[in-house]
Amino acid sequence: MASPLRSLVEDDERYLKSFQLFLERSSEHQCMQDFIQGILPGELASVGDGKAELNVFGVGSGSGDIDLEMVSQLRQKHPSITVDNQVIEPSSQQIHNYKVLLSKTPDLDYIKFTWNKNTAAEFEQHWKENKMSKKADFIHMIQMLYYVKDPDATVRFFQSLLDKNGKLLIILVSGRSGWGKLWRKYRSQLCNTEISQCVTTRDIKSGLESQGVAYRSYVLPSHLDISECFVEGSEKGELLLDFLTEVLDFSRTAPAELKAGVLEMLRQPDCSALETDGKVIFNNSLEALVLDPLP
Ligand SMILES: C[S@@+](CC[C@H](N)C(=O)[O-])C[C@H]1O[C@@H](n2cnc3c(N)ncnc32)[C@H](O)[C@@H]1O
Repeated sequence: MASPLRSLVEDDERYLKSFQLFLERSSEHQCMQDFIQGILPGELASVGDGKAELNVFGVGSGSGDIDLEMVSQLRQKHPSITVDNQVIEPSSQQIHNYKVLLSKTPDLDYIKFTWNKNTAAEFEQHWKENKMSKKADFIHMIQMLYYVKDPDATVRFFQSLLDKNGKLLIILVSGRSGWGKLWRKYRSQLCNTEISQCVTTRDIKSGLESQGVAYRSYVLPSHLDISECFVEGSEKGELLLDFLTEVLDFSRTAPAELKAGVLEMLRQPDCSALETDGKVIFNNSLEALVLDPLP
């Protein structure tokens, strides 16, 4: 049965507030930075095939911090390139935040930015209607496939845009994370049926495998301090709970039984580790998948 609860993504302002708090309480961006500095350079080494300008597409770029780190790694690997960077991001606020970041970041003259205030689906429709044929050298979708209707089809479309030696990078929560466990139990009650929402890399990998598409996988260990979720009446705890459940005002709108079940599950060893000082540390493990162009 479809969930009667409202999805957090319906309220951009609260979504951004809870995402920001999630970033503050988690090692999410730190584990991505470790991946970008440690593993990604090897993946990007062959990108571009000697071209002077590389085309990069960021899908669901958010405020751009992670995008700029990746483009900087690309430039370190290929020091004489320029970059044509297409940002595909539906939130005006996030595009604004990205532009503010650019205004404070030096030495970006080698990057040209094109702003597409679009969802991935709108971008795809525009691409097809206009019979665009440009190819991309590097496409990334970091923590965004939850918000599309059909993640497998979205991956297929963007993979089809890759040029020779191009790479598609997907980062999502891992099926083994606390998210994966929570969603396996509560998917039908929490998840919005209009979008995929409760998708993990386990789902994406099984879609790729069923189509015979090869990928490389890297685990990114990460944690999230959710202790405040257990403090009755804590505003920050409520915001974090909204992010964890992707339900708008979960604490106030969820049936008592569901709220109790979710809170109980979040403390279980399947999802979290209980520390001696009483902190509850949620398993936020991510996984990166790297795809080559379709043969
Ligand atoms: C969890 S944030 C991730 C932001 C950034 N990639 C990061 O990891 O920090 C998800 C982003 O996807 C964007 N988004 C939501 N729905 C989308 C869609 N249908 N297509 C593309 N992006 C979408 C949101 O506005 C938001 O900026």
